[in-house]
Amino acid sequence: MWNFQLFVLTFGIISKIVKCQELENIDYSNYHICRCSKDYSKDVINDVIKPLTSDYDVWTRNFDFVDVRLPKNIKLPKGCQVMISDIDKAIEETKNGMHMSFPSLDQESFSVDTLGNFFFNEYRDLNTIYLWFDLLKRSFPDLVKVEVVGETFEGREMKALHVSANNRTANPDRKTIVITGGVHSREWISVTSACWTAYQLLTRYSYFKKETRYLDSLDFLIIPIFNPDGYVYTWTHDRLWRKNRQQTYWPNCYGIDIDHSFDYEWGSNDDFPCSEDYSGQEPFEALEASSWNKYLNTTKGEYKIYGYIDFHSYSQEVLYPYAYSCEAIPRDLENLVELSYGLAKAFREKSGKKYRVISACQDRGSDLTPGLGSGSALDYMYHHRAHWAFQLKLRDTGNHGFLLPATYIRPVGKETYASIKYFCDFILNPEI
Ligand SMILES: *[C@@H]1O[C@H](CO)[C@@H](O)[C@H](O)[C@H]1NC(C)=O
Ligand SMILES: *[C@@H]1O[C@H](CO)[C@@H](O)[C@H](O)[C@H]1NC(C)=O
Ligand SMILES: [Zn+2]
Repeated sequence: MWNFQLFVLTFGIISKIVKCQELENIDYSNYHICRCSKDYSKDVINDVIKPLTSDYDVWTRNFDFVDVRLPKNIKLPKGCQVMISDIDKAIEETKNGMHMSFPSLDQESFSVDTLGNFFFNEYRDLNTIYLWFDLLKRSFPDLVKVEVVGETFEGREMKALHVSANNRTANPDRKTIVITGGVHSREWISVTSACWTAYQLLTRYSYFKKETRYLDSLDFLIIPIFNPDGYVYTWTHDRLWRKNRQQTYWPNCYGIDIDHSFDYEWGSNDDFPCSEDYSGQEPFEALEASSWNKYLNTTKGEYKIYGYIDFHSYSQEVLYPYAYSCEAIPRDLENLVELSYGLAKAFREKSGKKYRVISACQDRGSDLTPGLGSGSALDYMYHHRAHWAFQLKLRDTGNHGFLLPATYIRPVGKETYASIKYFCDFILNPEI
């Protein structure tokens, strides 16, 4: 059933290409990642970091601290401590196993199960993941379709897995759950967790009651790599790249932050096009965001989107709308919050990991600095398309940050899938 030889062959070639390209990777040896605790009299970024250097990159922020990449040649500001001192080594560790030998599988013993085990051993590049999509389609032709959402600036396809048993008796309204990963390309664990979710749904259908019910009664649109150009760039040039790779009006600046490009409450964040949060000059300038809007409005116009979950990292948080402002009160606020705690509980019960529940505006800091949370996928989906919408920031809480080693792929996949199951159960049987 599986064309395993093709997989190994292609995979081998891809590994070699990657190996050569690694030579051009950006060198981070003059930087470290620091955690700066908040002191209530000052704003860490504006009052502490900016006066020292313009060469910084914020990794995450919350009530208590800001994690930020800083050059090693400036004095460590007061209140800051080093979290990751050797970034290049941490990057290398996320690619560990990349060149490890394949498990010895002969075609006889090869099964869907072993492909899954093999695939999730390591992070995979875009071509390998798209090849894996095709293998899923070949193995589950009645349950999955690979659909093209649109094309990126560099001409790559943005692909969706449409997973469903197409049981129109059980799902006459085309109730749909949408899951996206990789909007920010350096957040690799969001990509693997979306793949993990698709894999569990497909392989467990007809063997397990829950998954059988999910695929009979729901349609799933799963887009593990929402930002294909950025994702490829993280493999070939800069592991810490976040935006897409679109040309901006400024000659040497590339990339729009897709998560600032959606049309609901879009606002120009006045950032220089080189900045990590650059919103573009107008809504839907990021091709991925505009393709997505068209795809949902036309191709999927008759699908009723009940739920949307957007995977990101890191921080271990469940975020509910809105992102753009803390003054905007979402409809169903109480239920959104209750459901968020349900998702967090599902994580905790699976793995013991604590996920904090907060509103997206607080996470973004748009309560203090309006504009920081504008144009997000979360707000757009919640406002226009989906009844329930959340963003999940997956592991960890900062020891590895965006650079989680591949050994985390399975545990994070498992706990994330537990929360997705909770979400499906709720959609199919809301007690709230
Ligand atoms: C459709 O779903 C219902 C409810 O889960 C189930 O009883 C029925 O067998 C399914 N039909 C097919 C063709 O799988
Ligand atoms: C797409 O959908 C959004 C949300 O429903 C709507 O605001 C917008 O007008 C639609 N655009 C088109 C071209 O249909
Ligand atoms: Zn993100």
